[in-house]
Amino acid sequence: MRLLLLGCTGFVGKELVPALLKEGHELCIISRKNINNLKINIPLDKFKFLKIDLSKKQNWSNENLLSNLKDSDGIINLIGEPIADKKWTDIQKEEIKKSRINTTKFLMETLKKSRINPKVIVNGSAIGFYGTSLTQEFNENSQSGKDFLANLCNKWEEVANGKPFFSRLVIFRIGIVLEAEGGALGKMLPVFKIGLGGPIGDGNQWMSWIHRSDLCGLIIKALVDKQFSGVYNAVAPEPVLMKYFSKTLGRCLKRPDLLPVPGSILKLLLGDGAKLVLDGQKVISIKLQEKVYKFKYPLLEKAIYASTKN
Ligand SMILES: NC(=O)c1ccc[n+]([C@@H]2O[C@H](COP(=O)([O-])OP(=O)(O)OC[C@H]3O[C@@H](n4cnc5c(N)ncnc54)[C@H](OP(=O)(O)O)[C@@H]3O)[C@@H](O)[C@H]2O)c1
Repeated sequence: MRLLLLGCTGFVGKELVPALLKEGHELCIISRKNINNLKINIPLDKFKFLKIDLSKKQNWSNENLLSNLKDSDGIINLIGEPIADKKWTDIQKEEIKKSRINTTKFLMETLKKSRINPKVIVNGSAIGFYGTSLTQEFNENSQSGKDFLANLCNKWEEVANGKPFFSRLVIFRIGIVLEAEGGALGKMLPVFKIGLGGPIGDGNQWMSWIHRSDLCGLIIKALVDKQFSGVYNAVAPEPVLMKYFSKTLGRCLKRPDLLPVPGSILKLLLGDGAKLVLDGQKVISIKLQEKVYKFKYPLLEKAIYASTKN
């Protein structure tokens, strides 16, 4: 397939791009960065590249972008300002929101205005859709929550649903993506490696995770398998409590799992953004049964072990 990749230059994109090339797809990658600053370990002549900031509406009339949109069989849209890198000031919250909602809205408006009907659009969302809870279990049929991230994901999915009529839309509500070089595990690893790691908060909050290879596997399958349609929780079958996650990480690294890291430290760093980590959410998928997708890493220990073996 000819694929247009939006938001695929980050942590997920780093594995997704080579995996898509391996499947024989032709790629056009869009980024705000210069091509030489992409952190993707593949030769630059293996894909097309456009440097465009898609969060700005005026950039959607770029001729090059329009001609690549017209040529695309599929679009993967994972654009989003990171949610756990900076303190959630009002300005940062606006950026987190705008980077997802506006770009997705501009994408759908442009496709419809230019009468472009890609066969498939894979759009990101997150398990933050459900809000946090220490006790409830959420699946694809559960209602959305009421906090900032829940409202954001709800709106993000609503604008994604403004897709062209004939395009198949697959939305992944992505869980905590695991791999050593980024995301939550990337942040916890250095502390654990020096033997000072421990659960964050009281450890009784749920972590609904997915290994990065499985997220990429799901996206790749959803592109070609026409049965994929609508919303899926991109999470491994067994969510775990933070205290179990921390113990497993310590065991895999042969390091101690020490005292809990006080939630107040995370609140200092992330402000309201700490709530997601400290309260957690237990999310399962009732749509990703084994016949739909076979997880490479269904269990946490193997997922962590695979992520930390180098
Ligand atoms: N990683 C996780 O654990 C996780 C969990 C749930 C959901 N997700 C969702 O999955 C998607 C990809 O995750 P990731 O971990 O790969 O994220 P990432 O490493 O932060 O990459 C984000 C991507 O979005 C683009 N981007 C970032 N901020 C932007 C902004 N303000 N305006 C326009 N473009 C912007 C970046 O493109 P440039 O090349 O232009 O910088 C990059 O390609 C995100 O939407 C995220 O919300 C991730």
